[in-house]
Amino acid sequence: MRILGIESSCDETAIAVISGNKDILAVEKSVVLSQVKIHAKYGGVVPEVAARKHLEAIFPMIQNELDPQGKEIDVIAVTAGPGLASALRTGVEVAKTLAWVWKKPLIPVSHIEGHIYASWLNGEAQPVFPALCLIVSGGHTELILMQNHGVYSRIGETLDDAAGEAFDKTAKMIGLPYPGGPEIARYAKEGSPDAFDFPRGLINRPNFDFSFSGLKTAVLYKLRENETRINDIQFKRDISASIQEAIIDVLVKKTMKAVKQVNPASIILAGGVSANEALRERLQESARQVGVPLFVPKLEYSMDNAAMIAAAGFYRAKDEKNYLNPILLKADPNLDLI
Ligand code: KG4
Ligand code: ZN
Repeated sequence: MRILGIESSCDETAIAVISGNKDILAVEKSVVLSQVKIHAKYGGVVPEVAARKHLEAIFPMIQNELDPQGKEIDVIAVTAGPGLASALRTGVEVAKTLAWVWKKPLIPVSHIEGHIYASWLNGEAQPVFPALCLIVSGGHTELILMQNHGVYSRIGETLDDAAGEAFDKTAKMIGLPYPGGPEIARYAKEGSPDAFDFPRGLINRPNFDFSFSGLKTAVLYKLRENETRINDIQFKRDISASIQEAIIDVLVKKTMKAVKQVNPASIILAGGVSANEALRERLQESARQVGVPLFVPKLEYSMDNAAMIAAAGFYRAKDEKNYLNPILLKADPNLDLI
């Protein structure tokens, strides 16, 4: 079965074709056009600009990458949400039109489910159930227990900012460009993680919720105290390393606490923040200590892409109840996984 995936929930326009044979998925093509450079000028994603850029990008992409009759495609999977309404609409309308014209089944996919399924694109080694998923993206930070394909329960989530947002907002405070996550990671490499002791929100609470707003405030105060050092490169490196350390510490500790409680057969790290090398290493080390295999997407599938949407679509396509009449599909900015 060949699945076309379409993704336009934020600032990446992406299409991909994957083939699925039993449980082995192969990416045949995956194209991502990032608008990051355009939004960097504004310090964040501007929804109207994102929508216009998606429209400009998606038609040439389809023309260049796909057969005009859609002969190679069996199913179309598209991100229906969550995300920016104006951005989602491009992918959704294009998917509906292609499904209608080509007479192919249409499957709406949650962007978050897509991030989880990025770990099914690693070849033969695949996550086993029950899987504990740590989802860390620009808009979400959640611990989800996945009992089987498409069967989820939420065991914890952020009460305020997402981990990616915490990276992006604190990066902005210290004068690093958007998106801040990769910038903080880059500066952190040469900095001391112990330079500043930033708060680890809710770390000792018995539940699995997260909070990153205290970190933001603490960084703001630290910058005020050190006004004269704000342009000092080593200060930026140290503060970056300390921010990264605080975020990773909470993510890893809470995940491992959840592992103890729910005893999963595997752990899945998902979402754009999974590109963070230090987070990957720390979680890998902790998972190894308790003997639970950790699945992390390849770097190219960590950030937003359409191959992960197609992968989630492949499993959804196994049940015809998930096919949706194109007329009924609407972008849903608040679409929940559960
Ligand atoms: O999943 P994603 O690509 O988009 C959303 O669905 O939101 O995640 C984007 C987030 C941004 O907040 C970005 O700063 C963060 O992922 N990110 C990172 C790294 N690469 C991307 N955060 C920390 N370290 C990284 N290397
Ligand atoms: Zn994402």
